[in-house]
Amino acid sequence: MRLYSLLIISTLVVLGIADGDDDNKNYNVTNRPFPKGFKFGVATAAYQIEGAWNIDGKGPQMWDDFFHETPSRAFDGSNGDIAVDSYHLYKEDIRCMEEVGVDYYRLSLSWARILPDGTTDNINQLGVDYYIKVFEALEAKGIKTMVTIYHWDLPSALHSKGGWLNPDIINWFADYAELCYKLFGKYADSWITINEPKQICHGGYGIGAYAPGIVSNGIKDYICAKNVLLAHAKAWRIWDEKYRKVYGAKNTLVIDSDWYEPSTNSKEDAIASDTKLQFVHGMYGNPVVNGNWPDVMIKNVADLSRKQGFNESRLPAFTEEEQKLLKGRIQPIMLTLKITSCIIAGTYDFFALNHYTTYMVKARTQEILTVSWDDDSKVDIYQKSEDIWKPAAIDWFRIVPWGFGKLLRWMRKTYGNIEIVITENGVSDKTGILKDQTRIDFLRNYMSHMLDAIHEADVNVTAYTLWTIMDNFEWTLGYIGKSGLYYVNRTDPALPRIPKDSAKYYSKIIKTKCLIDDCLNE
Ligand code: BGC
Repeated sequence: MRLYSLLIISTLVVLGIADGDDDNKNYNVTNRPFPKGFKFGVATAAYQIEGAWNIDGKGPQMWDDFFHETPSRAFDGSNGDIAVDSYHLYKEDIRCMEEVGVDYYRLSLSWARILPDGTTDNINQLGVDYYIKVFEALEAKGIKTMVTIYHWDLPSALHSKGGWLNPDIINWFADYAELCYKLFGKYADSWITINEPKQICHGGYGIGAYAPGIVSNGIKDYICAKNVLLAHAKAWRIWDEKYRKVYGAKNTLVIDSDWYEPSTNSKEDAIASDTKLQFVHGMYGNPVVNGNWPDVMIKNVADLSRKQGFNESRLPAFTEEEQKLLKGRIQPIMLTLKITSCIIAGTYDFFALNHYTTYMVKARTQEILTVSWDDDSKVDIYQKSEDIWKPAAIDWFRIVPWGFGKLLRWMRKTYGNIEIVITENGVSDKTGILKDQTRIDFLRNYMSHMLDAIHEADVNVTAYTLWTIMDNFEWTLGYIGKSGLYYVNRTDPALPRIPKDSAKYYSKIIKTKCLIDDCLNE
């Protein structure tokens, strides 16, 4: 039955009528409205949109070097030197956001634009002014802000000192983050310290597909992960202790996670699915909630490291002090008007989730001793080639709306009733066509499964951020991957932003709080 479902998924997923359950029942988009107060936004990242890579005092960052040194690292040989020139055209971006009617804009700050050599010894006032102009323009239009302090673009000067592998980065990042709080605290409605540690560490220091291109799977990606988590925790604690009372905004870390669907109903595959999720989401989620790696990671990596002949686990342990830092402050709670107990608050104010796709997962029957993060989970994952969505710009991009709902339910079960903000979700294609019905179907079906999880499983999702407002520089996909609500005509030097049908659809959802033409009254 499961196999049968899989075979027909490929033709059904784009319409969103496939379901991972055994009965493969038809799925109807929900007619329930979004909860009251639910917020909608769009997201971008500095390197993907700003351009102006060496203008007005900005220093180089490691993605500049990554593509300048080896242009073929981007599929189309391009880079983000100009991107969509938001450094000069940010008012155009904001006009698009106003047209769509978003509540907030998730944008990132370029570390090397603010601090060209990465340190607070040398502040680039023109870079600071740029962000103030953007914030003021947003404020004038009533658009709130979600500000990401770090979206992958490490100043080259810090990379040359070891980057995310050097524990000094915990202080370098904390200093930079504190400066951002001071400079932009009055403009930020919420803060994200770091975007997607998995991509930073596994992509950049594990498989090396991302900057800085270091290949050390299962070793250096773990060192990076530890430093990223501690850098986040330190920056979060600074916010919590010194700036929260002044500005009030919430602050957290963005974790990206796919859904991992057990490939059979067996107990082994259910455990394999949970284990994989612990290696993907729990690797970052558990430390910021509970102060340590998930138990299954500690156990698996220690076991395999021993069998592989390492003297100690490849997964670096957190000291007691570090665990305390990650666990955040002790928070008194009031019981019957007396302070009788304490809870550990963790270093997050809400969970920020980026989600795109789903994999199948199977328990491994034979041990594999290759040194890698992937093999440390002791499971096999796959996507059936016929299930890959053909117009997608990225090979792994399979449209599986129900995976989104299942991931949200898993998070509710694993971490409890924590507020969740979707900080990225969207779909890329290679075409950039204006009649992008596929993107509309994607949004409708993904959001429908999210709403089901909210209404049926009491998952506390309070906001949804669509990736992205306009087609932009999609990292190693260059300009081939187009995910925007607006098409950018790159052959026109003015880089005009032109609305696709999906911009109108998203705008309608925001107005009506409903995914279809008519929703139930709440
Ligand atoms: C990243 C974005 C990227 C998006 C789409 C996320 O992993 O945060 O920068 O453009 O995925 O691929």
